Amino acid sequence: DRVIYLTRHGESEYNREGKIGGDPPLTDQGRKFAAALARFAQERHPIAPACAEKSKADATFGGGGGGQLQLWTSKLRRTVETAHFFDEQYEVTTMRFLNEIYSGLCEGMTYDDIKKVYPEEYRTRQANKLIGRYPGGENYMDVIERLRPVVVELERLSTDVLIITHNVVMRTLLAYFTGMDLLEMTLLDVPLHTVYCLKPKPYGVEIAYQRGVV
Ligand code: F6P
Repeated sequence: DRVIYLTRHGESEYNREGKIGGDPPLTDQGRKFAAALARFAQERHPIAPACAEKSKADATFGGGGGGQLQLWTSKLRRTVETAHFFDEQYEVTTMRFLNEIYSGLCEGMTYDDIKKVYPEEYRTRQANKLIGRYPGGENYMDVIERLRPVVVELERLSTDVLIITHNVVMRTLLAYFTGMDLLEMTLLDVPLHTVYCLKPKPYGVEIAYQRGVV
């Protein structure tokens, strides 16, 4: 059975400061997670040289199979840095589709700042995050829409994959695979430094485990 691992990036400077969005680097804690994640995944998926070659040849949109474990990250620094500790034989594909929800004028602000500066937008977004958005930002429906090609590729893929991404993308992918109610999904707690292991089955997907990795 193939597996799909999903995780958020390691702790970023903004996570620590309570700020949203942006393109911050990892903290020391975040880098520790990145190192632990590489150990965790490489123990389970040691790469064989022949597989590495095949996987390099297939390196378009996540590749077409052959490698034992593909790594997909977003284009943002915090996910790319989270993949840094993997042996270079692992193929890393970065995709803008996997970026965190874009918060427009609120990028880099704390929730308290947003409440003060954009009280109306804050309130309507909290009431329904599927449709509510910060000025110039994406809502959850936009993210669901832009993740369609990723889901199609995941359905097609025959190899194992580790996706290092962000809070809202995690919520959306978990909802897609488990059939969770969408409004409920926007409130789901997806902790940092935790790996979700999904196993596609003939009918749906089983969450095999959710494990803290430090
Ligand atoms: O706080 C981390 C984060 O990934 C932000 O970058 C993003 O804006 C936020 O989560 C989204 O969560 P919510 O929709 O609950 O505000």
